Amino acid sequence: TAEPHETGDLTDGVRRRDFINIAALSAAGVGGAAVLYPLISQMAPSADVLAESTTEVDVSAIQPGQAIKAVFRKQPLFVRRLTPAEMEAADAVPLSALRDPQTLAERTKDGHHDLLVTMGVCTHLGCVPLGAAEGENKGEFGGYFCPCHGSQFDTAARIRKGPAPTNLEVPEYVFSPDGSTITVG
Ligand code: FES
Repeated sequence: TAEPHETGDLTDGVRRRDFINIAALSAAGVGGAAVLYPLISQMAPSADVLAESTTEVDVSAIQPGQAIKAVFRKQPLFVRRLTPAEMEAADAVPLSALRDPQTLAERTKDGHHDLLVTMGVCTHLGCVPLGAAEGENKGEFGGYFCPCHGSQFDTAARIRKGPAPTNLEVPEYVFSPDGSTITVG
């Protein structure tokens, strides 16, 4: 690398070499990226493993009105079995009244619309909302209440009041063939 006392010519030479190296790398294009990627992923294996990790949750014992907390990629995950009244409450809200319009059916899986799976991470600044476990504060909309700045989510975990901009995120997940477990991720 160029030292401060080096002449202008030498510094220019270094800059030219850097330019040539950058040009060579760019010309390598996709091939260059393919070579670099394994090197990068070796430097940060934990992040790589984390990004591909899945979480299996036994949902068979969750009764209507109950919820459990799990952990997915080091973040809280809420799995909640809705009561018929909670599902009705979610369906009764017109989409036009929602900041982030999505029906309960769109936020759940076919044949399992009573099972609500969301990240337990407020979409405002990332606090963990309350209401996942039975008896916790579910706010005035019957879903989740974020104690940090007062965001409130309804029984479909959709944002209804407060600063959070979007609904609680529904992660990718699949049911086991018998419906007793879900695999998230
Ligand atoms: Fe939830 Fe701000 S982090 S309302």
